[in-house]
Amino acid sequence: MEIDDIAEIIPAGTAAAATGAARKVFIKTYGCQMNVYDSQRMSDALAADGYAATETIDDADLVLLNTCHIREKAAEKVYSELGRLRQLKAERAEAGREMIVGVTGCVAQAEGREIIRRASAVDLVVGPQTYHRLPEVVKKARGGQKVVETEYALEDKFEHLPQPRKAEVARRGVTAFLTVQEGCDKFCTFCVVPYTRGSEVSRSVAQIVTEAERLAEAGVREVTLLGQNVNAWHGEGADGKEWGLGRLLYRLAEIPGIARLRYTTSHPRDMDDELISAHRDLRALMPYLHLPVQSGSDRILKAMNRRHTAVDYLKLIDRIRAARPDIAMSGDFIVGFPGETDADFEATMEIVRQTNYASAYTFKYSPRPGTPGADMDGHVEEKVKDERLQRLQKLITEQQHAFADGLVGQTISTLIEKPGRQPGQIVGRSPWLQPVIVDEKAGEIGDIVDVRITKTGTNSLFAEAV
Ligand code: 5AD
Ligand code: SF4
Repeated sequence: MEIDDIAEIIPAGTAAAATGAARKVFIKTYGCQMNVYDSQRMSDALAADGYAATETIDDADLVLLNTCHIREKAAEKVYSELGRLRQLKAERAEAGREMIVGVTGCVAQAEGREIIRRASAVDLVVGPQTYHRLPEVVKKARGGQKVVETEYALEDKFEHLPQPRKAEVARRGVTAFLTVQEGCDKFCTFCVVPYTRGSEVSRSVAQIVTEAERLAEAGVREVTLLGQNVNAWHGEGADGKEWGLGRLLYRLAEIPGIARLRYTTSHPRDMDDELISAHRDLRALMPYLHLPVQSGSDRILKAMNRRHTAVDYLKLIDRIRAARPDIAMSGDFIVGFPGETDADFEATMEIVRQTNYASAYTFKYSPRPGTPGADMDGHVEEKVKDERLQRLQKLITEQQHAFADGLVGQTISTLIEKPGRQPGQIVGRSPWLQPVIVDEKAGEIGDIVDVRITKTGTNSLFAEAV
């Protein structure tokens, strides 16, 4: 599963003025890319019901917080935002204007009705499995009810959600997310996902292909397949056979217009031969793989219920690199899991040295109520966690810089994505997800062009057209 800890706040909105619709919705997204995708789909569902999206909270009649529950800090952020919204709602009430406040996402699923008890501003709580019911829930809330909708729906929500709107897809840009799988059956002992997102469900091949074609028709060049455990995706193919993610990627690579494919986040246990072969065969499949290992200590991996050892992981990476030598690795690490000793942590440092990451995310262990890890003995002191996190981050930053420095002087392919901050510049994306800043003469938005890297910035590359 992929969650970048930046807890990016991304309004899923559009220029509401363009539609002149009466009601407006503001969606604030916390957490992972799956939430970014969900916010877009909620926005599509509400648009069908007459709500235009806005990026300004002051314009909004409906405010939705699409939340993340992965670490304690992420959940706390939601409650402090709800405090601010209470104030805003009170001001609105005085002015005689309606403001409906809703909580969606994983905090909604995990805490349900408790949210309404704790935060009086909240009118509706909707879990990730029932977004297709959002328009109906909003109607009830407008009628004065407090609505909580967190049951796992029997119906397939994707069948009931409207397709992404073409104009909206085009506005969102030339890269897009596409959720193919939700939930997780792995039950790592630190993780809330199996509880908040439920057990693994794969979308059908037909649904995925139709959505990808629609994205391509709207001008999307790069599609990132999403899933909490995306490489566990499986489904029945057009040939009546059971497909895995590898086979699906071969199929998606045939869609005209789709030039780049990615997928995230994967579990090492679910990297099968066909998926590794896809990395060898498909030029469209970008040579960048987010494959979290979490720890380098077998003792801790066992306590985490990861069901693989450090050596299993390293051997797997050897196989992937043999198939695609230019692949760059990314990962997630947790420091300070209960019982982690200095020696365990050194094993984590060692696996990082051996793998050599192009980037990686590091987290301090955060006990999540209801997960087995929270009840384990040997919780690690905050100070120790801080020290370990710093050392690990330093090593990963060094590797990340070394990887970027190694690209200087090389010619690489870049997907042009958007105008740059400085006039005359445009920003593209490298095969390894780095922003590439280049002269606007290099190409138009949506083009994939070769550029020569001239120098590196903090988190980006500078390039010249070739
Ligand atoms: N504490 C700290 N980090 C966590 N992650 C998941 N649960 C926790 C937790 N309780 C991290 C894992 C996962 C990433 C998305 O978040 O590294 O891969
Ligand atoms: Fe959480 Fe583990 Fe499932 Fe990833 S594989 S979502 S870390 S339980």
